[in-house]
Amino acid sequence: MKCRVCREPAIIDIRRHNANFCVEHFLRLCRDQVAKAIDRFDMLQPGERVLVAVSGGKDSLALWDILGELGYEAHGLYLGLGIGDYSDASGEAVRAFARTRDLPLIEVDLRDHEGFDVPTAAAASRRSPCSACGLSKRHLFDRVALDGGFDALATGHNLDDEAAVLLGNLVKWEVDYLARQRPVLPAGDGFPRKIKPLVRLTERETAAYCVVRGIDYQVDECPMAAGNRQLRLKETLNDLERRSPGAKHDLYFRFLDRAVDRFVDPPPEDAGDPPSASVGRCDECGAPTTAAVCAYCRLRATARRAEPVALAPTRRRR
Ligand code: AMP
Ligand code: FES
Ligand code: ZN
Ligand code: ZN
Repeated sequence: MKCRVCREPAIIDIRRHNANFCVEHFLRLCRDQVAKAIDRFDMLQPGERVLVAVSGGKDSLALWDILGELGYEAHGLYLGLGIGDYSDASGEAVRAFARTRDLPLIEVDLRDHEGFDVPTAAAASRRSPCSACGLSKRHLFDRVALDGGFDALATGHNLDDEAAVLLGNLVKWEVDYLARQRPVLPAGDGFPRKIKPLVRLTERETAAYCVVRGIDYQVDECPMAAGNRQLRLKETLNDLERRSPGAKHDLYFRFLDRAVDRFVDPPPEDAGDPPSASVGRCDECGAPTTAAVCAYCRLRATARRAEPVALAPTRRRR
């Protein structure tokens, strides 16, 4: 197996590019793919300040690393979700990365700063853990990015994530979600610009990137999300990709090229609020909402009143 660029021994084959790459040219490919996504979708302008949401997993740490390599001033934001030793290990991975590279990291611990955690919020509100977690993450990402005056908030969603979400939304013809499934969402009143610069890389590639760069990431999946629908959709797409290399890429990028503009962006809303209501401001936090108090502030109030849920320790794989 030889590198397509230099003919030296290759370390990875990428079937959708029909090519193999050595270390140096694989790293260059990853940076080029991120630079291309940023450029093609106008994600960032030179000199803009970006806040990267880092979970401690391979994608967001690779993203933080690549943005730095591309010359962007990128701060990290880590949210401590209070999911037992999974969160402890995730936080450690993020801190170690920031420390060794001397990068600025903002930390918000849900329990310390907001008075609740994800397991308690899920149990008290009878939402699924991922729904309580997603609502909290979206709200806090917006708040920290706006308060810090950042130009954009970047997340580590990769091609596998975006293609799986797209497939799920297509299966159910969720037209409102389809309209918002873009790699860039422009800033709005109360929202920072949101960008997904890893959409041209798969999770296999971000994992390989971390290994090659010596980035120690949290390998365990969140114990509260195991077996969820998105994992099944990813498996389905991986089957398809094995038979037709490039299928994931085509599904997602042809959707962006040919279809997404046919769906009209709905106004921002909190999940669970009536769809027809007009957008106002949350009485408690000032965030955009269609109700008097936003879904996040309601979740937080419910969770704060509840007895904290103790998670059983999970078995660590490393
Ligand atoms: P997930 O929702 O777990 O699929 O994560 C999607 C993206 O959200 C990640 O790539 C990160 O950019 C961000 N993210 C997830 N969890 C956290 C966290 N605890 N703190 C900061 N960012 C996070
Ligand atoms: Fe949000 Fe697991 S990371 S529920
Ligand atoms: Zn090479
Ligand atoms: Zn609120």
